[in-house]
Amino acid sequence: MGFGVLGVFLGLLLEVSTHGPQAVPRTSWRHQDLDLMEFSEPGIFNYSTLLLSEKQDALYVGAREAIFELSKKNVTVRNNKVQWTVADKAMRMCTLKGKSKERECLNYIRVLQVVDDEQLYVCGTHAFQPQCDYLNLADFSLKGQPEDGRGKCSFDPSQSFTTVMVDGELYSGTAYNFLGSEPIISRYSPYQPLLRTEYSTSWLNEPSFVFADVVRERRNRADGEDDKIYYFFTEVSVEYEFFGKLLIPRVARVCKGDLGGQRTLQKKWTSFLKAKLVCSMPELNFVFNVVHDVFILKGTDWRDTVIYGVFTSQWGNVGLSAVCAYNMTVVEDVFSKGKYMQKATVEQSHTKWVRYNGITPSPRPGACINNLMRQQNMSSSLHLPDKTLQFVKDHPLLEDPVLPIGNGPRLIAKDVNYTQIVVERVTALDRNIYDVIFTGTDKGVVHKSVVFEEGVHIVEEIQLLKTSEPIKTLLLSSETRSLYAGSDSSVVQSPTAFCGRYPSCDDCVLARDPYCAWDPHTAACVNIVDAPSQRLRGLIQSLNGDADKCPSVSGRLVRDYQRVTVKPGSSAELPCLVQSNLAQVMWKSNGSVLTEASRFHLIGENGLLIYSVAPEDQGQYECWSVEWAPAAGKNFSRLLAGYVLSLDLPPRPPHQTGHVTTTQESTSTHAAEGNGMTDRVPLTSDHAPPSFTATVIFTPPPQTDSSLTPPSSSTIKFQPKQHLPPSVNAPRPDKDPAAEYLQHNNSTALLFLFLLFFLLFLAALAYNCYMQYLPAPCLRVRAALLGNHKSAHQPEYRACEGGLMEASATDKINMTEQPTQNGSQSTQNLRALRDTGYETEPECGNGRIPSHSFGDDSPSQQKPFDVDCESQSIQFADADENYC
Ligand SMILES: *[C@@H]1O[C@H](CO)[C@@H](O)[C@H](O)[C@H]1NC(C)=O
Ligand SMILES: *[C@@H]1O[C@H](CO)[C@@H](O)[C@H](O)[C@H]1NC(C)=O
Ligand SMILES: *[C@@H]1O[C@H](CO)[C@@H](O)[C@H](O)[C@H]1NC(C)=O
Ligand SMILES: *[C@@H]1O[C@H](CO)[C@@H](O)[C@H](O)[C@H]1NC(C)=O
Ligand SMILES: *[C@@H]1O[C@H](CO)[C@@H](O)[C@H](O)[C@H]1NC(C)=O
Ligand SMILES: *[C@@H]1O[C@H](CO)[C@@H](O)[C@H](O)[C@H]1NC(C)=O
Ligand SMILES: *[C@@H]1O[C@H](CO)[C@@H](O)[C@H](O)[C@H]1NC(C)=O
Repeated sequence: MGFGVLGVFLGLLLEVSTHGPQAVPRTSWRHQDLDLMEFSEPGIFNYSTLLLSEKQDALYVGAREAIFELSKKNVTVRNNKVQWTVADKAMRMCTLKGKSKERECLNYIRVLQVVDDEQLYVCGTHAFQPQCDYLNLADFSLKGQPEDGRGKCSFDPSQSFTTVMVDGELYSGTAYNFLGSEPIISRYSPYQPLLRTEYSTSWLNEPSFVFADVVRERRNRADGEDDKIYYFFTEVSVEYEFFGKLLIPRVARVCKGDLGGQRTLQKKWTSFLKAKLVCSMPELNFVFNVVHDVFILKGTDWRDTVIYGVFTSQWGNVGLSAVCAYNMTVVEDVFSKGKYMQKATVEQSHTKWVRYNGITPSPRPGACINNLMRQQNMSSSLHLPDKTLQFVKDHPLLEDPVLPIGNGPRLIAKDVNYTQIVVERVTALDRNIYDVIFTGTDKGVVHKSVVFEEGVHIVEEIQLLKTSEPIKTLLLSSETRSLYAGSDSSVVQSPTAFCGRYPSCDDCVLARDPYCAWDPHTAACVNIVDAPSQRLRGLIQSLNGDADKCPSVSGRLVRDYQRVTVKPGSSAELPCLVQSNLAQVMWKSNGSVLTEASRFHLIGENGLLIYSVAPEDQGQYECWSVEWAPAAGKNFSRLLAGYVLSLDLPPRPPHQTGHVTTTQESTSTHAAEGNGMTDRVPLTSDHAPPSFTATVIFTPPPQTDSSLTPPSSSTIKFQPKQHLPPSVNAPRPDKDPAAEYLQHNNSTALLFLFLLFFLLFLAALAYNCYMQYLPAPCLRVRAALLGNHKSAHQPEYRACEGGLMEASATDKINMTEQPTQNGSQSTQNLRALRDTGYETEPECGNGRIPSHSFGDDSPSQQKPFDVDCESQSIQFADADENYC
C-alpha cells in the first residue's frame, strides 16, 4: 500500500508540474556576459548583512569579523573598513562549549542599523556571545564599549533572525539563549525597559524569523491608530494535527506604542497577535507552507501597502517556489476583526486548538491604543484591564487566515528555490503602475517579473553570482537603480534593467520590461528614467508586447547575407543565436520553411547543420524567430540570420559526390536491420521542394536558471566538418512502408521492456518485503497483511507515512480521534482545503471539543488505509479519495 501513497504523491507532482502555471524567463543573462560590479576581500566571507545609506553614497556591509563602507554607486570602491574580532577568552569559552574555532566561534556581523547621521548600531554573534556596539561614521571606528547582544542578534551564525530599527528602538526576532531554543520577539529602547514575548509555545513555537518592518498608520488615520511592526516567520503549527512537524507561515504584529501591562503581562507585549499567511494553489490543493523572505512595498498611504512573500513547500523536493502578495487592509482586518483561537483540552494530556466563540473582553485584546480607548481613560497599554490582557496572553493566535491577493500566488516558478525578494513600483510610459518583483534564488540567480492583468511575465533571469550559491540578502535602490546582493563570497551590484542589451525595437518591446522603451531617434533600447523628458513622448513601449508598434525595418538585403562555401559532401554549420527563451526558431531555405529532413539538424543554440551538402542544397538560408506575445495575441517573426550556401565545386561534374553517401547509407541500413532501434526519421522527400505542407518548427529548450550554461561556442566557424549522420542519409523519393512499421515496432518493444522491468521490480520488492529484507514501513505492511487484523490500523497508518514523516506518541492519539471519514466529511475537508489552503478545524463551541463521537468508528469497521491517507490531506495535498 505504500505504493498507493507513493502514487498519490507522484500524482501530485505530476499534476502540479503539468497543470501548474509555469513561467519561463524570457531572457537569460549569464554572469560572464554582464559587466557587474563586485566586491570581496581575500580571507573575508559571509557578506550577509547589507544596509543602504539614504543620505550618503554608502552601502554598509556586515561580513565575518569585518564591516565595510562601499560606494553604493560602485561597490567595487571600498571607502572604509573596520575589523571586529573575538578576544581569546571568548573564543576559549566558545570552543569549550563544543563549537568550532574556524567557523562558529568567529564574529559574524548580523545587525547593521542606522541610529542617526553619525552612527550605526552594529551587532555580531561574537563566538556565541552576541555583542552590540556603536560604529562612528566620521572615522569609521567602533566605540569599543560592547553591550550585551542577547535577544538582538542570534548566537548561532547560521540561525535565522530579523531586526529592524524604528525611531531609535531596535525590534528583533531571534533566540534568547545559547541553544537557540528560546525564541523571542523583543524591543530594545534607550527610553524604556525591554519589552518581549511570553516564553510559551502558543506565542512562538520553534519559529524561523525571516523579516520585520514597520507600517506607519498613525499619520494618516483619524482614529489615532498606532504604527505597527510586522514580523514574518515560519513556525511549527499548534493548530493542525499532523504526523510530524507541520510548518506554518505566519504574520505577527505588535504596536509601536506598547508599554506592556501593569500587573498582567508586565514588560511583555500586550499587542502581540499572529495569524496564518496562506499561499496556495487552491485549484490543485497545493500549499506553500514555508516563507523565506518578505518585502513590504509601502505606499504613500498605509492602505496602498502590499506585502510580498516568497514561499516554498516544506517538502522541498517538489521544486516549486511561489510569490504571494497580501493587501495591507486585509491584514489589518484580520488583526482588528478576526476570531481568536483557543486551546482546549481533550482527554487528559492532549490539547487541541479550536475557534473561540465566546464573548471577547473589551477593549479588544491585542488592539493598539486608539482615540476611542483614550476617551475611556486608557491612554497606554499600562491602563488596559486585566481581563483583556489575560485574554490576549492566552489567545495570541487568530483563526482567520490572511489570504493572498487573487487567492493564489502571483508567480510560481519551477525548479528554483527563491530565497530573497525585493519589489519596486515602476510607472511605465502608459502611466500605469507596475510592481516589478526581483526574486533571488539559492543558485545565485535573480528573476525579474512583472505582474500583468493576464498573469505574470518573467522578463529575465540574471546570473548575479559567479558561483552557484544562495543569495543571502537582496536590496534595491531606486536612486542608483541597482540591485545589491550579498552572499557568502561577495557583494554584487547589478542594474535593475538591461535595456541597452536589446538590439532591436522588436526585442525591446517583446521583453515587456516597464523600465525599457525604444528610442527611434537613436535606434536604441533605453531606460525610460535615462531619457530626457522631452523625448519620452517619442519612445515606443508596449507592455503587452505588441511589436507592431515598432517602425517597420527595411528587410535585410540578400547581398548582405553571409556567404558560406563548402566542399561537396561535407557538412555546413549555420549558427543562429536566439535571445528569447519564449521564441521558436524557424529555418527557411529559398523562402520556404525547412522540415526536419535527415540532412537538416538543429544544433547548439538553434543553429542549422546540413550534412553532406549536395548541389541541390545550395541557396539562401534564413533563421527566423517566431515569438508568441500572449497579451497582444499575435506571433511576431523576425529574421535573425541569413546565409547563402554554395558549393566549392571541383572541375568535375557535381553528381559524382556519391561515394561518402553510399557508405553511410549501407551502414545505416545495417543498423536498421540489425536491432531495429535506430531513431530513423521516415523521409517524405530529400529534395526539399519549395512548397512543403507540413512545417516543423524547432523549439528551443526552455531555459531556467539551472540551464544557464555557456553555449557551445560563440565563435562562428564555417570549417567544413565530416559528420557521420545518425540516421539514414540516402535520398528516398518514395515513402518506405517498412520505415513506419519499424517505428511502430520500436515503441511497442520499448513499452514491453518497460512493463517487463516494472513487473520485475514489483516482484523483487514483494519478495524482499516478504523475506523481511526491507526496512520498517514495508515490515508494517507485511505485518498488516499477514498478521492479526485486530491491531491492523496502527501499522497501516504508519505504512501510509511511507517513511516521509516520523510519528510521535501524541500523533497516534490524534489518529484514533479522526472523525468518521464518510463521503460528505471528506468533501467538506476538501472544500475547506480549497478555501484556505489548509485543512481547517471543524467549528466548535467555546472550549468544547468537536462533537462527533469517536467510539463508533472502530478501526475494524473502516476500510484499511482509509483514515490514514485521508488525514494526510495536507501532506499529499491533493490526495484523491480513490487512492485511499
Ligand atoms: C567602479 O570602480 C572601479 C574601480 O575604481 C572602476 O575600475 C570601474 O570602472 C568603476 N565602474 C563603474 C561602472 O563606474
Ligand atoms: C560563511 O561562508 C563560508 C564560506 O563560503 C561558508 O562555508 C559558511 O557556511 C558560511 N557561514 C554562514 C554562517 O553563513
Ligand atoms: C486592498 O483592499 C482594499 C479593500 O478591499 C481595496 O480597496 C484596495 O484596492 C486593495 N489594494 C490592493 C493593492 O489590492
Ligand atoms: C476619565 O477620567 C476623568 C478624570 O479622572 C473622569 O472625570 C472621567 O469620568 C473618566 N472617564 C471614564 C470614561 O472613565
Ligand atoms: C531546493 O532546496 C531543496 C532543499 O534545500 C533541495 O533539495 C532542492 O534540490 C533545491 N531545488 C533546486 C531546484 O535547487
Ligand atoms: C534554391 O534555389 C536554387 C536556385 O533557384 C536551387 O538551385 C536550389 O536547389 C534551391 N535550394 C533548395 C535547398 O531548395
Ligand atoms: C504562432 O506561432 C506558433 C508557432 O510558430 C504556432 O503554433 C501558432 O499557431 C501561431 N499562432 C498564431 C495565432 O498565428
